[in-house]
Formats: sequence, structure tokens, C-alpha cells
Amino acid sequence: MARLSLDIVVLVSALASLTSAVPLARADCDKTTLSKAADAYVAAQTAGSIAALQDSFASNWTYQENNKVIDHQKGVLHKSLKIDHRRTNYDLVQCATYTELISASGPYTLATQIRHASDGKVTSIDTIAATTNSWIFNASKTLEYVKQEKWDPIPKEKQDSREAIQAAGDAYMDMWSDAHAHEKVPWGTPCVRLEGSAYTGKGQPDDSCQPGIPSNHSQAPNTHRRYVIDQEMGSVSIFCVWEHMMMAADSHEFRLENGKLRYVHTMTECGGKTCRL
Ligand SMILES: *[C@@H]1O[C@H](CO)[C@@H](O)[C@H](O)[C@H]1NC(C)=O
Ligand SMILES: *[C@@H]1O[C@H](CO)[C@@H](O)[C@H](O)[C@H]1NC(C)=O
Ligand SMILES: *[C@@H]1O[C@H](CO)[C@@H](O)[C@H](O)[C@H]1NC(C)=O
Repeated sequence: MARLSLDIVVLVSALASLTSAVPLARADCDKTTLSKAADAYVAAQTAGSIAALQDSFASNWTYQENNKVIDHQKGVLHKSLKIDHRRTNYDLVQCATYTELISASGPYTLATQIRHASDGKVTSIDTIAATTNSWIFNASKTLEYVKQEKWDPIPKEKQDSREAIQAAGDAYMDMWSDAHAHEKVPWGTPCVRLEGSAYTGKGQPDDSCQPGIPSNHSQAPNTHRRYVIDQEMGSVSIFCVWEHMMMAADSHEFRLENGKLRYVHTMTECGGKTCRL
């Protein structure tokens, strides 16, 4: 018994030193640093040049597009696009952002996760770039729907925990391969899904995100998930490999309000081919 309590004391003091060390290691991960880089990213995408980002990069930064690490020079980042819509979410714990961009004339819808080192420098830009032939793609239509939505910041006292937000997203992503996953999704009403340019529900009070959810739970899972979680937005961005549809590069973003699913946005690209189930 005495030994046990000693072990607990050791454990507690180890934990205490660990928690006090965390803020120091993350000193440069503040919203200003993250938003500066996200703004530079949007400026770079608008210009079709990474010049605006140059000061933000760590020397070892990598560029990933549609789930493949590629030379950034060959990526969509070097195409000048007129940006019609932009929203950025902030993850101050992981030191990362998620940005949703729509360019009707591109035409492109872009989902981008940017990750930072503890010194604030950008270590990776990870983009899912949907365009003609992507799943239910029509950037103009997506833009029209996005403009009707409200993604207001959620007041502190009404925010869900990071764990609850991530669990909701994961449960949803598990529905293709787990027969019980849908029971764990905190379905809300109203709730709307924007999948490519397909809108399920028009925001009416009784609209639900449940029509058409997977009934076959024996499909390949959604793997290689990468997360950006923003409690103030109630959101989690999840990038993955959509294995059951041509191993597509997929972005799913979920917003919770009062613990319930409110919005789902998706962008899915099938290696330059026409996406088919
Ligand atoms: C990349 O550089 C940053 C410093 O800017 C460093 O913190 C990080 O560990 C490096 N990553 C790798 C994989 O070397
Ligand atoms: C995209 O949707 C708009 C309506 O928002 C429509 O006018 C246009 O024809 C559609 N484009 C294609 C290629 O289907
Ligand atoms: C469910 O998906 C699996 C994997 O694609 C497929 O083999 C099976 O035939 C599907 N089942 C039904 C009932 O469609």
C-alpha cells in the first residue's frame, strides 16, 4: 500500500512537471501566428506563388496534395485562383489550422490543413483539391449553399469538449465499416450535409443529416485520418483515404452545436479520374 502511494506521488509530480512544460513548448502557438500563416496561404493561393508564405516556412516543410507528398511547384498552390469564400478554423492545441476555400471560376474547392512546429513555423501544407470530376463537383453551387450557412463562434460556456467534437466526427467516419457507429453520432436537428455540391436539407427545423447514411457497414474503412479541432467553431476537420470509393482523397468537416451535429461538409477527389462508387 505504501509503495503504491509512493508510485502515485511520483506519477503525479511527473505529470505536474509535464503539464507545466507544455505551455513553454507551445509558446509560439498562438492564434496570431496561426492566422498570419493562414492569411499568407490564402494570399499565396490567390497569387499562384508561395512568396507570401516564404517567411512562415520551416526549412523542412512538406507539401501534400490529395494525399500525396508532391513538389509544391506542381500543385494547385501555384495556380492563381480568385477566392470567393474562405473560412479558417484554429487548433491551438495541435498548432494547426483548417481552411476551406471556394473558387467558382477555378473551378476548385480546397480543404487545407496547415501544421506548425513549436517555434510557430509551418511544417506542412496538406490540401484536398476538388475540381471537375471530383465527387458531385460544382463549385458555384457549393458556394451558393455555403453562403447560406452560419458558422458563428460559439460562446465559451456553450462549447463542446475537443474529445466530444472529435468523437462525433470519428463515429460518422466509422459508419461505412462499423454497424454500430451511427448510434454514436450525436445527430442534431436541424442538420445539413454539403457533399461536394449536393445539399441534404435546406436548414428547415426538422432537417436531419440521416437520410442516405451508409446501410452497408462492411465497406472499406476511412483511414489515415488527420484532424484539426476548433472548439470555438465546434468543428473538426478530418482528412482521410476514402477507401471504399477509389481510394479517394477525402475531406470531411463537422460542426457541432450544443453537442449535436449541425453541419457536414465534404470534398472528395479521385486521383484525377471521375469519382464513382
Ligand atoms: C522541422 O523543423 C522544425 C523547426 O522549425 C522542428 O521543430 C521539427 O522537429 C522539424 N521536423 C522534422 C521532421 O525534422
Ligand atoms: C453548377 O450549378 C449551377 C447552379 O448553381 C448551374 O447553373 C451550373 O449549370 C452547374 N454547372 C454544371 C457544370 O453543372
Ligand atoms: C457491402 O460492401 C462490400 C464491400 O464493398 C460488398 O462486398 C458487399 O457486396 C456490399 N453489400 C451489399 C449488401 O451491398
